[in-house]
Amino acid sequence: MDSHGLYWTLWMLLCFGQYLGDDLQFSEPANGAIGGYVVLIPDYPPYTSIDVIQWHFGTTLIMTDQSGEITVSPGYGGRITFDRRSLALVLWDLRLSDSGKYRLTVVTSASAQLTGETSLQVFERITDVKLIGPEEILIEDESIANITSEGTGHITSVQWMKDKIPLSSSDRIFFSSDNRSLLISPVQRSDTGDYQCIYSNPGTSMTRKISLVINYGPDNISIAGPNVVNVGDPVSLVCSASSQPPASFAWRFNGTEIGVTTKTFTINQTDLTHSGEYDCVIKNSITIYFAVVFHPLLVKEGGGEGSEGGGGGWLTTGAIAGIVIGAIVAVAGICGLIVYLTTTKIPELNL
Ligand SMILES: *[C@@H]1O[C@H](CO)[C@@H](O)[C@H](O)[C@H]1NC(C)=O
Ligand SMILES: *[C@@H]1O[C@H](CO)[C@@H](O)[C@H](O)[C@H]1NC(C)=O
Ligand SMILES: *[C@@H]1O[C@H](CO)[C@@H](O)[C@H](O)[C@H]1NC(C)=O
Ligand SMILES: *[C@@H]1O[C@H](CO)[C@@H](O)[C@H](O)[C@H]1NC(C)=O
Ligand SMILES: *[C@@H]1O[C@H](CO)[C@@H](O)[C@H](O)[C@H]1NC(C)=O
Repeated sequence: MDSHGLYWTLWMLLCFGQYLGDDLQFSEPANGAIGGYVVLIPDYPPYTSIDVIQWHFGTTLIMTDQSGEITVSPGYGGRITFDRRSLALVLWDLRLSDSGKYRLTVVTSASAQLTGETSLQVFERITDVKLIGPEEILIEDESIANITSEGTGHITSVQWMKDKIPLSSSDRIFFSSDNRSLLISPVQRSDTGDYQCIYSNPGTSMTRKISLVINYGPDNISIAGPNVVNVGDPVSLVCSASSQPPASFAWRFNGTEIGVTTKTFTINQTDLTHSGEYDCVIKNSITIYFAVVFHPLLVKEGGGEGSEGGGGGWLTTGAIAGIVIGAIVAVAGICGLIVYLTTTKIPELNL
């Protein structure tokens, strides 16, 4: 079969390639950090029996393995580990002066000499990375979030992630030219999350995290529930809004507070006096915005079984008019409020 032939060719290459070429390959240069360790390892060890293995740093001999007997040069005692099977050299307690070229030499039982070279760069450690985030409360579309970072050591790159996904600049997200500070202007609710700042060099990295919470709302407001019910039926009206922090609710009937402050308002058994206009005042204590949603309810004298076909499924013209008026009042109320807040907040912002 075809694949059989392919495997055979690959096997031949693996076995005899080492005799044909005289190089031990290292895929990429190594990096380390002061005090850390590094593993120098050729991509493939030779498939043949070996007599002598030597690792050199520049012209300095680090160690020799002669048929399993290891001799470590002075200066490397206690600093290296060697693995004969993979030919890997582990160098511990790295110093800046360990940066340079490392050479691996192997003499096979057939007296062939194979060599390979790699290089190591040791970097200063990165320390004291700090993030300084906004201390004030952040409000959607109004606030600016400025996160600055600092750190010491040999820093070659600074990167940011939000909720573990790389953060990129946009029309609201700006990085300083050295990436050390991040500006979000203005903030939006989707900016809520964990921000990580990663200081790194090829040998080491240090990450710090900061969380942002963007306050918003209430918006996306609504009351769910029937507009028409028969006398005696129970009714539940559910007021909802998108808000951070969660909004507070206060129910009113025909404009008068009724002392219900849960998002759901329930009447176990309706009577005719329950007809009228219900509304829910939704407040956000941090953004200090509030909104009102209106919901008309008509309680009807009980018709014959089935004649009303399950009530609440359709609306009377009166209820529809009520909803339309309610919606207009709500919009007018919110507009008035926004104008009011804008005018009263300006002096605060100037402080
Ligand atoms: C962000 O904060 C840093 C440090 O407090 C300050 O130097 C920088 O000017 C601020 N950037 C903006 C755009 O406010
Ligand atoms: C800044 O961040 C961007 C995106 O994360 C990255 O491509 C770039 O290399 C960084 N620049 C520096 C100086 O760290
Ligand atoms: C609006 O509220 C509904 C629930 O009341 C929610 O499912 C939806 O995601 C919200 N939409 C926005 C844009 O916040
Ligand atoms: C409504 O019914 C629930 C249980 O069905 C009860 O806990 C509650 O007290 C009742 N409310 C009123 C006002 O009767
Ligand atoms: C509430 O208002 C509606 C219409 O605006 C009115 O018909 C009803 O009598 C009022 N109910 C009470 C208890 O005030």
